[in-house]
Amino acid sequence: MKTDIKKLVSEMTLEEKAGLCSGLDFWHTKPVERLGIPAVMMSDGPHGLRKQEVGGDHLGMGESIKATCFPAACATASSFDEELLTRLGDALGRQCQAKDLAVLLGPGANIKRSPLCGRNFEYISEDPYLAGKLAAAWIRGLQSRHVGASLKHFACNNQEFSRMGCSSEVDERTLREIYLTPFEIAVKEGKPATVMCAYNKINGTFCSENKWLLSDILRNQWGFEGAVVTDWGAAADRVRGIQAGEDLEMPDSGGENDALIVKAVREGKLDEKLVDRAVENILKFVFAYTENRTSDEPYDLEKYHALAVEMETECAVLLENNGVLPLKSGQRVVYIGAYAQAPRYQGSGSSRVNAARVSSALETAGKKGRDVTYVQGFPGEGDELSEEELQRAVDAAKDADAAVIFAGLPDSFESEGFDREHMRLPDCQNRLIEAVTAVQPNTAVVLHNGASVECPWADKTAAILEMYLGGEGVGEAADALLWGEANPSGHLAETFPMKLEDNPSYLNFGGDGKKVRYAEGIYVGYRYYDKKKMPVRWAFGHGLSYTEFTYSNLRTDRESFGDGGRLTVSVDVTNVGAMAGREAVQLYVSDLTGTPNRPVKELKGFKKVHLEPGETKTVTLELDDRSLSYYDPDLHDWYAPGGEYAVLIGHASNDIRLETRVRFTTRKLLPFTVTSATTVGELLADPRTKPVVGAFLAERLARRGHTDLGTSSGADEKSRNDMMYAMPLKSMVSFHVLTHDGMVEFMGRLNEAVQKG
Ligand code: BGC
Repeated sequence: MKTDIKKLVSEMTLEEKAGLCSGLDFWHTKPVERLGIPAVMMSDGPHGLRKQEVGGDHLGMGESIKATCFPAACATASSFDEELLTRLGDALGRQCQAKDLAVLLGPGANIKRSPLCGRNFEYISEDPYLAGKLAAAWIRGLQSRHVGASLKHFACNNQEFSRMGCSSEVDERTLREIYLTPFEIAVKEGKPATVMCAYNKINGTFCSENKWLLSDILRNQWGFEGAVVTDWGAAADRVRGIQAGEDLEMPDSGGENDALIVKAVREGKLDEKLVDRAVENILKFVFAYTENRTSDEPYDLEKYHALAVEMETECAVLLENNGVLPLKSGQRVVYIGAYAQAPRYQGSGSSRVNAARVSSALETAGKKGRDVTYVQGFPGEGDELSEEELQRAVDAAKDADAAVIFAGLPDSFESEGFDREHMRLPDCQNRLIEAVTAVQPNTAVVLHNGASVECPWADKTAAILEMYLGGEGVGEAADALLWGEANPSGHLAETFPMKLEDNPSYLNFGGDGKKVRYAEGIYVGYRYYDKKKMPVRWAFGHGLSYTEFTYSNLRTDRESFGDGGRLTVSVDVTNVGAMAGREAVQLYVSDLTGTPNRPVKELKGFKKVHLEPGETKTVTLELDDRSLSYYDPDLHDWYAPGGEYAVLIGHASNDIRLETRVRFTTRKLLPFTVTSATTVGELLADPRTKPVVGAFLAERLARRGHTDLGTSSGADEKSRNDMMYAMPLKSMVSFHVLTHDGMVEFMGRLNEAVQKG
């Protein structure tokens, strides 16, 4: 950076500094003309530019410039392709340069806790590793064009209901393993210029004034060096916010909060150095952009439209197919459903883009001369079905060789600002799908939705193609995939449960408006369904292709590794079908050490590969000790128990193709303080106390004339052993095994053994 930011800050008055800590208007930072500090503009985000040239609103209702609407995160996540996300970020960065935007407000890395969250379409995944890796890839692409990202909404903004005040009640292990991990990976690997703190509270404290979140974790533990920006209107107590690590308030409070900052400094209640720090953080992203401005970047919306089509083609997920897809030329096909003509391609709210040009599948089929007729069947908005339209759809389907129903969620069913009321499609669509499949066995359903939906008719359809909210090119992408000009290669970044009630957050989602309990803990998404052995409609990672892939030769570069070590995992993937295609190789890890309360398996690596028919490629992925770890709140750190782990290679989380085993050794020891409530079992489980307590038990048994605890039957023995393991030291006094003084002395010896390590 050419500008000496520290020097600039030292030349500013306190009023100028406090002023710079809030927006000039809805979208700009403040300038300080006297010192040559320019104002820069921010804009939503994340899948296109919502640049408002006049006025501003955070609801996506006012005018914004024509821009490319790329596929939303629900779709791009399904690519399982870091390279695609980087290319998307790069394209957005170029567009920002062309339109003079210094920061694009995205990506959204919040976990999809429930299918009901109204904003799931903007979020990436139910899996923290996938969400973090893809967010980081997008940030790298965007920032390669010197445009700052704003990683949002930090953190635990997993519902829209009462989002501006509700407290997400989450235990620390769950926070670290599930809700913070995507942000951690994105911060460490993507180095975003800004992080946007969420509206909500976590365990009672607003994110915007949460020092533990914004300073201890974000800055000190993860090394974040950028600016913390409030979500629009998320600032609470501004002085406490600055103290906690919040930098820029957006949009502004008409100067009121700036005045409070000045007053607090003057009264000695706020250290001016903290204000300086906030200003420095803000100026870093201001100058990172202005010093690297490329004012001649072309804004070629036609070229970007083609890119939007190409990307969506790689994101759509083929969920079912009995061979009806791809459709064959010469087939007479009827397209049914309003989304064939006017697709639902983006969600509502702050991310809504004024799309440059939206293509529909129907229009594309017409251009390509396909034998396609159209019946509307059901409307794109609402849940009304006329009997005449239903009959027309059924008759047309009967007459055709195949039917394709373009179904999905209307705008009014999912949006920023409110959560979904249920997980169903409109009833009218379900009814029509049932009626058409009853007369036409070759019926495919194409879905347009921002989150998982219940599909009670799934077994009756011949094929299901999930387009998600696929951006302005969704129609052309659907056409290419339906007619076999492209091969589907998306995989689900979220589970589709059979029904909403199966979802682990079902009993607690939403909360009472004041608090929402994350009672399911770490068992989010497939971590829950796997553990419960619960059937799901489609599992996390699922996705079909028009070709077939086989896996072979899974190997690791070593059989065991330890703290700080790495393991290289390689596997060969072959395209054994007749069409070129892309496969998302997924690597899961399973803890076999016997440690309680761990998921059956967790995603720890993935890679998308392109394979021509007959081609084999070797995919290499890396694991480290963090890949095996859980977060231990007593240790205040990640901990991988020593022992055996399974390394699994899958085509989906429920379709594991190959497995190998590795051993992990650790020198880390968990904190342990022996008290009178510590049980014999706990003492025997810890390597430091095991010898001491073992010797003690042997001596007691010998004194009573026994050599072991066994008596007449196996059941007696098990019950006696189990009771013994569960016995706290204090009860030994009640059972006259130890005197009180003896227990105190014994505890001392045990704690000494712990100290020695
Ligand atoms: C949303 C953010 C968005 C901001 C600015 C807020 O309501 O939560 O995601 O970036 O508005 O439009």
